[in-house]
Amino acid sequence: MLPAVIVGLMLLSLTSGENPAVQVILNNKGLQYGKHVGAGWIQDILASVTLPDISGKHSIGIFGSVGYTLTGVTITQCDFPEPSVEFYQNATGFKTSVSGLSVALTGGWMTRYGLIHDKGTFNLALFNVDVTSVVELGNDTNGRLSVSSVGCDAQVGDVDIQIQGGQRWFIQKVVDHYKGQITGEIRSSICPHLEESIAMLEQHLQAMNVSFDVNQVVTLDLPLTGLPVVDASSLNLGLKGEFYSIKTPTEPPFGAKPFTVPKQPGYMLSVGLSEFTLNSASYGYYSAGVFQALINDSMIPRFSPLHLNTSLMGPYVPQLPKMFPGLLMSLQVYAREVPLFSFLPGAVYLDLQGTVKAFAIQPNGTQTPLFKLNVDSLLSGKVWIADGKLKGSMALNNLTVTLASSEVGTFKTDAIQHFLLMGSSFLMPKVNQMLGKGVSLPRMKHAELVNTVLEVDKGFIAVSSDAQVLKTD
Ligand SMILES: *[C@@H]1O[C@H](CO)[C@@H](O)[C@H](O)[C@H]1NC(C)=O
Ligand SMILES: *[C@@H]1O[C@H](CO)[C@@H](O)[C@H](O)[C@H]1NC(C)=O
Ligand SMILES: *[C@@H]1O[C@H](CO)[C@@H](O)[C@H](O)[C@H]1NC(C)=O
Ligand SMILES: *[C@@H]1O[C@H](CO)[C@@H](O)[C@H](O)[C@H]1NC(C)=O
Ligand SMILES: *[C@@H]1O[C@H](CO)[C@@H](O)[C@H](O)[C@H]1NC(C)=O
Ligand SMILES: *[C@@H]1O[C@H](CO)[C@@H](O)[C@H](O)[C@H]1NC(C)=O
Ligand SMILES: *[C@@H]1O[C@H](CO)[C@@H](O)[C@H](O)[C@H]1NC(C)=O
Repeated sequence: MLPAVIVGLMLLSLTSGENPAVQVILNNKGLQYGKHVGAGWIQDILASVTLPDISGKHSIGIFGSVGYTLTGVTITQCDFPEPSVEFYQNATGFKTSVSGLSVALTGGWMTRYGLIHDKGTFNLALFNVDVTSVVELGNDTNGRLSVSSVGCDAQVGDVDIQIQGGQRWFIQKVVDHYKGQITGEIRSSICPHLEESIAMLEQHLQAMNVSFDVNQVVTLDLPLTGLPVVDASSLNLGLKGEFYSIKTPTEPPFGAKPFTVPKQPGYMLSVGLSEFTLNSASYGYYSAGVFQALINDSMIPRFSPLHLNTSLMGPYVPQLPKMFPGLLMSLQVYAREVPLFSFLPGAVYLDLQGTVKAFAIQPNGTQTPLFKLNVDSLLSGKVWIADGKLKGSMALNNLTVTLASSEVGTFKTDAIQHFLLMGSSFLMPKVNQMLGKGVSLPRMKHAELVNTVLEVDKGFIAVSSDAQVLKTD
């Protein structure tokens, strides 16, 4: 009974959503840094903003109503206290509040009361404005992140309006009399404006791609696999993180296993990358037929001690020089299975199972098959981050050569295996020299990663980093 229940649950969990192969975690440190940058940015924007003209009618009881227009309204001063922002579990999102905001505005006014037109300038100051906003994060059916405003509250402590020009004594009186109402109107216009900005952000998110062509061979799918997860100290986004061959997009015969990225509150963000992502890329390239090559003698450097010539094969395949003397050879090399990566604490392993088919090239061009070898190797590597670059090193752990089939009779493969091991011990230092130079970490237009660390764990790689917004002019 129990096994049936477990199988049932497993099937359910397989059909109701897949495991994310990439996890992006925003820690509180990152949220606070983002807020700090955002607040400075808003302050800069406010300093240069000119508000659109505001027109309306103001009822003055039994006297009818006064039509008014405010034009050229600019912000002359803004005390924008550092807002507070926190992860908000109740709404799977963020709660942001700013309190004690003060703004001074100046502009021109015009009034129409029947045939009487009047105009002048005004100074307006808003004191002790408090705004609290709750934003909820979600996912849409296409796997895009969505944001929506689920709560907004605004309070305005006091408004002070000074009228200059025109029949200012009259206007000032009206304004003073209706101050409470004006304050209320300003207060009730704050949240709709905020909600409009959030709706605009949502529009941008909906226009984002969740799939990227990496090159002509593979594409990377990065939609959300489910709802964002918010707890008191972090936001976790689970992404599919699967590569597909563009020409033959099929699912690999293996799936993403669940993994938990350890909490790293000392860093702004963490990214967990499952070995599945790398292996899906490998599968994509494999199904696109990238892992195969034809090698002929013109590709072998002149100084090489061995050439693809049957007469020189005596030490490896003793019967070959006698059966096919003096012929050039070609090799067809391909991955027999999908090359698979596995991550274990501190190390990355790559299991390569290759096949080499050897042919003799007859004088008339016919390729005569000679033999087929299986060459299986296990590579192990280390990866780390230093000087802002991703670096690595690699070693050949094991290499075995076995004869899979032969048209020239059986022979021992020890000599070939020995030759390949020699070749790799000659090649490895050069490869490691290249890997040691490393590749730069991805750098965005407006931000770069700093203090980046990388750790290989069982089944995944965890990268934790701080980010730094670049000053642009
Ligand atoms: C979260 O929601 C629960 C129930 O709706 C409520 O009791 C609690 O006060 C809320 N928490 C916060 C921090 O608002
Ligand atoms: C969010 O993602 C889950 C899992 O893919 C899906 O079942 C759900 O429908 C998505 N939500 C929306 C609003 O589409
Ligand atoms: C999304 O992808 C399409 C096609 O690959 C591309 O034309 C478009 O510019 C992309 N949009 C964004 C916002 O990157
Ligand atoms: C070897 O292969 C290359 C590239 O496929 C080709 O250009 C060349 O003609 C070949 N050489 C011989 C001797 O077959
Ligand atoms: C193959 O090697 C033999 C012995 O070194 C040489 O005589 C012959 O010319 C070579 N064949 C070709 C096609 O290079
Ligand atoms: C090419 O030469 C080989 C060996 O001499 C022979 O067996 C084969 O039939 C020839 N092929 C053609 C197309 O002439
Ligand atoms: C190399 O692989 C062979 C065959 O799989 C295995 O018997 C042997 O133990 C391996 N050697 C090492 C050092 O892992």
